Amino acid sequence: MSARIELDAVRKAYPDGTVAVEGLSLTVEPGQVLALVGPSGCGKSTTLRMINRLVEPTSGRVLVDDEDVTRTDPVALRRRIGYVIQDVGLLPHRTVAANVGTVPRLLGWDRRRTRDRVAEVLDLVGLPLGTYGSRYPHQLSGGERQRVGVARALATDPPVLLMDEPFGAVDPERRRDLQQQVARILRDVGTTVVLVTHDVDEAVRLGDRVAVLSRGGRLEQLDPPVAVLAHPATAKVREFVGDGAPVRMLALTHVDRADLDGPERVVEPAPAPVRLGETLTTAFEAIAALPPSAQGRVPVVDAGGALVGSLTADGILAGLRRAADAAVPDARAAGDRPHPGAARVAAATPRPAS
Ligand SMILES: Nc1ncnc2c1ncn2[C@@H]1O[C@H](COP(=O)(O)OP(=O)(O)OP(=O)(O)O)[C@@H](O)[C@H]1O
Ligand SMILES: [Mg+2]
Repeated sequence: MSARIELDAVRKAYPDGTVAVEGLSLTVEPGQVLALVGPSGCGKSTTLRMINRLVEPTSGRVLVDDEDVTRTDPVALRRRIGYVIQDVGLLPHRTVAANVGTVPRLLGWDRRRTRDRVAEVLDLVGLPLGTYGSRYPHQLSGGERQRVGVARALATDPPVLLMDEPFGAVDPERRRDLQQQVARILRDVGTTVVLVTHDVDEAVRLGDRVAVLSRGGRLEQLDPPVAVLAHPATAKVREFVGDGAPVRMLALTHVDRADLDGPERVVEPAPAPVRLGETLTTAFEAIAALPPSAQGRVPVVDAGGALVGSLTADGILAGLRRAADAAVPDARAAGDRPHPGAARVAAATPRPAS
């Protein structure tokens, strides 16, 4: 169960005159993850909070499944919309199980149904009820607390989940792990998600589409991650995405048969292989770690472990180029502006000689 979200020419001017969001229109299809990314103060949190009416739009409309949220009772609305924030906001004097069961209890679920659902969502985030249910928030690591926050937000299977910098308080080493776990959970649950972050890596890893905002909540680009990286629509997107775009694309692109040379070109003794479908980051690291005797060529195996070819740095560049060419930016999202960055990854990834 997931909902469609539509923002239609939404504007928010705060009472002191600050225009946080101006004329923002976008849609999130059911079950999709939209990552809202942009510099500090550009209006991301304001946009998110207009979806669950923690902030009222000054003008424009916010629709959840075609229903105007300003005509919906805010309390009822918030029970249908999960909300995860940076410091989670768990109740310190209540156990993990009680925290996760808060909304089901408010909704009047009986004990048995609440307990079953709490067990289910705690399993989903990898914190089994038997081990973690009776702990208090201070008896958890930061990442575990964050996962309890996600479990709590998912407890009533909300059709919409809003996440505002959900990994902000997690140390960088664990962040990547937690992002991967949450990405998997979101795929399993299939709920519609709007995720706010100022971290481009997080946006491109978690978002099905990425909305890049600039100051005043202006939509600079709304596209799938690879399109944003390979074809930044405006100078502001290019500046924000930064010089790391090709490297970031490695993590979003996978080892594909199209980029392989024949298996007979593997030099003996054969180095440890990479697998079809692994990220190009993994393949790149494998190639970088090869001994000189391997001549820059790593064997590639299929899911069953059978040798299907070999890959070099040229193959990786070819894979990046294919991904960039396949990612067609949506011209409407950028207001039919030209795409000054279109040639950029092309320039950064020279075509292999072969
Ligand atoms: N209650 C308020 N009253 C007046 N101005 C506000 C209020 N809340 C936010 N703003 C202003 O609105 C603008 C957008 O704020 P918002 O919190 O949406 O930004 P953000 O993109 O989430 O930033 P960050 O990445 O730092 O969290 C900022 O200029 C901020 O100062
Ligand atoms: Mg914010």
